[in-house]
Amino acid sequence: MDRTFVMIKPDGVQRGIIGAIISRLEAKGLKLVAAKLTMLPEEKVMEHYAEHVEKPFFPSLKAYVMSGPVLTMVWEGRGSVAIVRRIVGATNPAEAAPGTIRGDMGMETGKNVIHASDSDESAAREIAIHFSADELVDYTRIDEPVLYE
Ligand code: TYD
Ligand code: MG
Repeated sequence: MDRTFVMIKPDGVQRGIIGAIISRLEAKGLKLVAAKLTMLPEEKVMEHYAEHVEKPFFPSLKAYVMSGPVLTMVWEGRGSVAIVRRIVGATNPAEAAPGTIRGDMGMETGKNVIHASDSDESAAREIAIHFSADELVDYTRIDEPVLYE
């Protein structure tokens, strides 16, 4: 089954909206298969954001994601990468559509609440950075038979 990596950034944790965010993903039909509340070490930030390390915004991005605990998660479901990106919304919360997490819960790009993998390749890479194989659990959502065609 398809998996995606999701991270509630420090602003989301500090604002107490973890539950509200998880509720949206659960209600959609996605299955939580791993979760960890943790402070990101610098090495993981560099690896996670490898594509952005040379960008002008990287120093502030790095300081932001290291400014407090993050909730790292893996969510499973058919087509989960694209589905979660749509639920998360555009990078800039000021432009993200209403109904999306960023559109409903954030104000600016530099504090955009949440990260989600942008492709299956990114998801596999990011899951491996943040979780070991034995941290991904296997269970059945009892509604699975009626969620899928
Ligand atoms: P990016 O991968 O482009 O966005 P997304 O999170 O939607 O996949 O950028 C990664 C993060 O970097 C983004 O969530 C917030 C931060 N960022 C900035 O602070 N300034 C910027 O101009 C951009 C493009 C991103
Ligand atoms: Mg990205």
